[in-house]
Amino acid sequence: MSDNKNFSPENRTMKNMLVTGGAGFIGSNFIRLVFHKPEFTGRIINLDKLTYAGNAESLGDVASIYGNRYVFVHGDIRDSALLEKIFMEYEIDTVVHFAAESHVDRSIEGPAEFIQTNINGTFSLLETARKIWKDRADVLFHHVSTDEVYGSLGETGYFYETTPYDPRSPYSASKAGSDHLVSAYHHTFGLPITMSNCSNNYGPYQFPEKLIPLMISNIRQEKPLPVYGDGKNIRDWLYVDDHNEAIWQIIHKGINGETYNIGGENEWENIRLVETLCEIMAEKLNRPMDDVKKLITYVKDRPGHDRRYAINCDKIKRTLGWKQKYNFETGLRATVDWYLSHDAWVQSIQSGEYQKWMEKNYRER
Ligand code: NAD
Ligand code: DAU
Repeated sequence: MSDNKNFSPENRTMKNMLVTGGAGFIGSNFIRLVFHKPEFTGRIINLDKLTYAGNAESLGDVASIYGNRYVFVHGDIRDSALLEKIFMEYEIDTVVHFAAESHVDRSIEGPAEFIQTNINGTFSLLETARKIWKDRADVLFHHVSTDEVYGSLGETGYFYETTPYDPRSPYSASKAGSDHLVSAYHHTFGLPITMSNCSNNYGPYQFPEKLIPLMISNIRQEKPLPVYGDGKNIRDWLYVDDHNEAIWQIIHKGINGETYNIGGENEWENIRLVETLCEIMAEKLNRPMDDVKKLITYVKDRPGHDRRYAINCDKIKRTLGWKQKYNFETGLRATVDWYLSHDAWVQSIQSGEYQKWMEKNYRER
């Protein structure tokens, strides 16, 4: 069924898009990017459980500007009855699935939620799509995944779409499980799908538990900057809008059943990145550079810490014409400026449930 030429990208309807996890970092930026596309005239339904990582305030402007073209539903992707209701009531024809537990450190301290949301939640969504869409050819389920499913690289080499899966944390194992389910629903039931595996994102609205916003927040408050292990682990950084533009292109032009790797081609050792942030912040806050750098504190390594990630994204460049637009230096500066001017957002997302968790797990920070 999935080889049928009716499943070609130009037949996709894309009028009523269900975005899961749209109150999180990448999802909220995605919704804003889609509404800025003049060619998108449809409606977005944002289904989000508002865990500690979700904040409806991240889309306050969108809700007021786009009126009934934007609908927020507070709920859990594991709730099949709710999913069916949403699919029927809003005539969903496209799913862009971001919702997940996303932080590796938390998956080490408490893997259960990761299995529940990332695997069981993806399963519920797939089941609903299969049941409601039946054999429709004008629909698409896009699954957002990570490069972490490929494991850890040595000093050389890259992750390709064909690299065997080798997840090493409960987070990446749960994402790998969800990727396999999406792929199985395509092969077994003919569900029209596309999938993307992306490297580390940075930009506005990222929860300040992840490396870049955590360091910005700690520098600001003159708190220690915890660098894990020897600080020489490498990540490939991509500005969030570049990731979301790639997803936009995949859902329009991507071939049914295909996976696309997305990356920054921008590898940085953690310690070099933290030092660069210290330099930018010292300048912005008008503080002596040495005082800021003195905050760097080497701490115990993350268990099973993957050494290096690096994405080969030739496929999406060659076949869909996507490429990165943001340069790291300007993207980082823009991100720092955003955090410095959005104190209220930072305080709001760090309060409540997250605050209690931090007090229990990270008293020393
Ligand atoms: P995030 O943690 O900032 O946001 C996740 C969102 O999902 C939150 O709004 C949360 O409330 C929601 N959510 C969690 N459990 C839910 C549930 N059971 N039902 C409904 N909503 C739920 O994550 P992010 O960094 O924006 O990542 C989004 C997606 O992109 C994830 O699937 C992640 O694996 C993937 N990804 C992230 C990166 C990155 O660098 N952040 C890179 C590659 C891929
Ligand atoms: O590669 C894509 C992945 O990138 C996404 O799938 C994940 O959802 C996202 O969280 C991110 O995972 P990482 O583990 O790479 O991101 P994190 O920001 O947690 O850490 C980046 C690097 O910095 C990593 O090598 C660990 C290190 N680190 C992190 C924190 C939070 C520190 O040295 N100190 C810290 O305090």
